[in-house]
This record gives sequence, C-alpha cells and structure tokens, in this order.
Amino acid sequence: MSYEQILVEIRGNVGLITLNRPKALNALCAQLIKELGQALDEMEANADIGAVVLTGSEKAFAAGADIKEMAGKSYMDVYLADFITVGWERVTKCRKPVIAAVAGFALGGGCELAMMCDFILAGDNAKFGQPEITIGTMPGAGGTQRLTRFVGKSKAMEMCLTGRQMAADEAERSGLVSRIVPVADLVAEAVKVAQRIADMSRPVVMMVKDSVNRSYETTLSEGVHFERRLFHSTFATEDQKEGMAAFVEKRQPKFTGR
Ligand code: HXC
Repeated sequence: MSYEQILVEIRGNVGLITLNRPKALNALCAQLIKELGQALDEMEANADIGAVVLTGSEKAFAAGADIKEMAGKSYMDVYLADFITVGWERVTKCRKPVIAAVAGFALGGGCELAMMCDFILAGDNAKFGQPEITIGTMPGAGGTQRLTRFVGKSKAMEMCLTGRQMAADEAERSGLVSRIVPVADLVAEAVKVAQRIADMSRPVVMMVKDSVNRSYETTLSEGVHFERRLFHSTFATEDQKEGMAAFVEKRQPKFTGR
C-alpha cells in the first residue's frame, strides 16, 4: 500500500507509523485519517508485528483536526456523516498495543488521537492541549472524557475551557504520559519499548491490554472478575508454561504466541 500523508516502516517486530503532513503541522485531514486506518489494518494483519508506534514530527505530533477542512461544514454535513466517528476510532479498536510517541504540539484532535493509544511517551518538548473552545467548538474525539480520566476534573476542565496547553513535565506529573524522553531519542526509545512488548507472549499481551482497558468501562468488582478469568486463561497457553519454566531454569523465555 502506498501512502501520501503518513510514513510506514517496520523495525524488527514493531510497526512504525509517522504522521507526515509537515506543512500543516500534521493536521488530521480525512485523507490522513483514512491512511492511518489502512496502515493499522495492515499491521494488525501482519503476524510479524507485535506492537505499533504512532508518532509525528519533532515540531508536531498533530495540531488537531484540519480546521480548513472543517470550517465550512454545516450541522447536517457533520451529523449525517457522523463526522470523526468513522475512521478516527480505528486506533481504539486495535488489539495490538499502540504507543503514542509525542513530540511538539498534540492539540485538539492530536491530543485526542494520542489519548486513544495505549500509552503516551512524551518528548521533552511535548505540549498537550484542547484548544477547540478558542475556535468556537469543543473536543469531539473524546477529549472531555479521556483527558478527565487521565488528569482529573480540575485540570481537564481548565484545559478544555481555556485552551491552556500543558507542557511535558506537567503532563507527566498529572499522569497523562507514562514518561518523558529527550526529544532526539523519542522514536528510538518508543520502538525499543514496543519491541520489548512484541517479545512477550502475544496472546497474553492482548489479554493485559483488554483487562487494563476494561477498568475504564466497568466497576471494580466486575473488572477484577474479568481480570481473574483472563489470568486463569493464561494457564491454557504454552507461553505460560515456557515463561515459568524459563524462570525456574534461570534462562530467558522463548515465547511462541501459543
Ligand atoms: C489546519 C493547521 C492546523 C490545523 C496548523 N495548521 N494547525 N491547518 N488545521 N489544526 C497550519 C497553519 O494554518 C499553517 O499553514 C501551518 O500549519 C503552520 O502553522 P502556524 O500556525 O503558522 O505555526 P505556529 O505559528 O508555529 O503555531 C503552531 C500552533 C498553531 C500553535 C499549533 O498552528 C495552532 O494554533 N494551530 C491550531 C490548533 C488548534 O486549534 N487545534 C484544534 C483544532 S480543532 P499555512 O498554510 O498558513 O502556512 C480539533 C477538533 C477535534 O482538533 C474534534 C474532533 C476531531
């Protein structure tokens, strides 16, 4: 598949997707979102790939949905097409882990896209924000919901009501990002982390992802019950036998994904 607005690369067992629309700071136009979905479909289908890294440039992960593309749309245009639902939520449906490696601006839909990923590694120059209110609209790809779950009501409310940007150190303190990496090392570090995940048991990786995500959707007792059943099911895998045998025999495990 050839792409115009993203770059797609495979490094080891990691799929690397780079948003590549530099003249518009990676503004997320319809074509880019369509290509992102196609690349994710390809990576989900490729058995060699165990995890995905999604990144942008050093200046911008993505400066939001494409304002020039949205500006003239009517209510009926966005309502009837269910604008942004189709395409945008593809990343939330991935069964393989997706790591967002965010440098520079992650604003509006860019911040929302990063939050759809499984976790965010931030470059030390990263800036997160939901500035939609400054252009007369509001977050529409989960910003009011996911940001609130990440950083709590007070910070999320302030950011969505004022458009204030949050720098990398505040984002780390607030739990929005898992950690900060010098921007020059960001992609290499994200690929290294993704490779580490890709080396684990593939089915167990999927179960962990499923279980952590379930914590957002259910009560504690139901979530723990769900986790317990998945934990039990890891004992049906060859990888659990291999992993525990390797520990006892003081050697590295070789997981096969079975
Ligand atoms: C379209 C954009 C864009 C965007 C930047 N550009 N952001 N084009 N949509 N979201 C374009 C600019 O028009 C400009 O093009 C070029 O990228 C460089 O941007 P500059 O503004 O010149 O760069 P700079 O001065 O460095 O400022 C960077 C910035 C600013 C602070 C990030 O560009 C900015 O405020 N952008 C908009 C951020 C925003 O409001 N995002 C939310 C969008 S709404 P030209 O052709 O002039 O050189 C949204 C809704 C989500 O995301 C809801 C559902 C998905």
